[in-house]
Amino acid sequence: MGSPQTDIKSSALELIGNTPLVALDRIWPGPGRLLAKCEFLNPGSSIKDRSSYGMIKKALDSGKLKPGDPILEVSSGNQGCGLALVCAVLGHPLTVTMSKGNSPQRATMMRALGAKVELIDQVEGTPGNVTLADVSAAETKGLELVKETGAFYVDQFNNDNNSCSHEETTGPEIWKQTGGKIDAFLATVGTAGTFMGVSRYLKKVNPEVKCFAVEPEGAQPIQGCEITKPLHLLQGSGYGAVPRLFKFDTMDETLSVTDQEAVEYKRLLGKKEGLYLGYTSGANVAAAVKLLKSGVLGKDPVVVTVLNDSGLKYPEILKYPFEQ
Ligand SMILES: Cc1ncc(COP(=O)(O)O)c(C=O)c1O
Repeated sequence: MGSPQTDIKSSALELIGNTPLVALDRIWPGPGRLLAKCEFLNPGSSIKDRSSYGMIKKALDSGKLKPGDPILEVSSGNQGCGLALVCAVLGHPLTVTMSKGNSPQRATMMRALGAKVELIDQVEGTPGNVTLADVSAAETKGLELVKETGAFYVDQFNNDNNSCSHEETTGPEIWKQTGGKIDAFLATVGTAGTFMGVSRYLKKVNPEVKCFAVEPEGAQPIQGCEITKPLHLLQGSGYGAVPRLFKFDTMDETLSVTDQEAVEYKRLLGKKEGLYLGYTSGANVAAAVKLLKSGVLGKDPVVVTVLNDSGLKYPEILKYPFEQ
């Protein structure tokens, strides 16, 4: 008889979080170190699993959501995938409205996890380039459905438990994994849940940690610039308006990234690090390399960023318009 098995997760919910931190030593051999949190290893293959579980758990704990109640969310797909897996395990019917411009792989995954997905025509964007107006159209439909069905509306853009989930999990994990040796943190901003939650925690434990918000070049409202390029490849982030959850008190500076840079580092992550990831991961790493190259952080700095989702969530594009 073998020994009793004790290392068993009771459900997919226990697979969320506690992701490893990997050193990108082949992309940035030094000086200093570039470390990345492997959020694509969550069961829904993105960082949004954390806030999905966090927001639903807090709603259940507070009694705002009752067991088995229907749930609705507006999503670029990753929040939807995270919610779909949480709802599958907990037994809530889920409907997600999503812009047709977001990647079809995400709709396929949500449906496979039992969610109902309503795809909404784009207003101004193109497939792969989703603007604030496109997200607003998906939101309008979502709010209509909430009114009709009485479903619980998760509301990631206005739900404080979104950023709390990162303050309670992602931030503390980074602090523990680096042994507190971290000079800077940086992340792209969609709802701002990740940036706010992590930066709030890191500034609390060490106010010296510098926190940088990453924006697509030409869509930099946090930097205070006029929007000149609302269309970009950083799906799930950079909507051209300062999100409601964003507060300026934990941000030191912003960094900007072009589509070309995001694609270049998305490819380098694959070819040099063996990591097949999405565009915002490429953007985060591109921004981190710029920051390290600038030398502003002093001698041998440790920079931490997040690898937000898997490359399998996107259609493969061999040649981009800027390459023709
Ligand atoms: C691929 C990707 N990267 C980054 C983000 C931004 O995360 P947050 O909403 O926590 O700002 C999202 C959000 O949906 C995303 O899907």
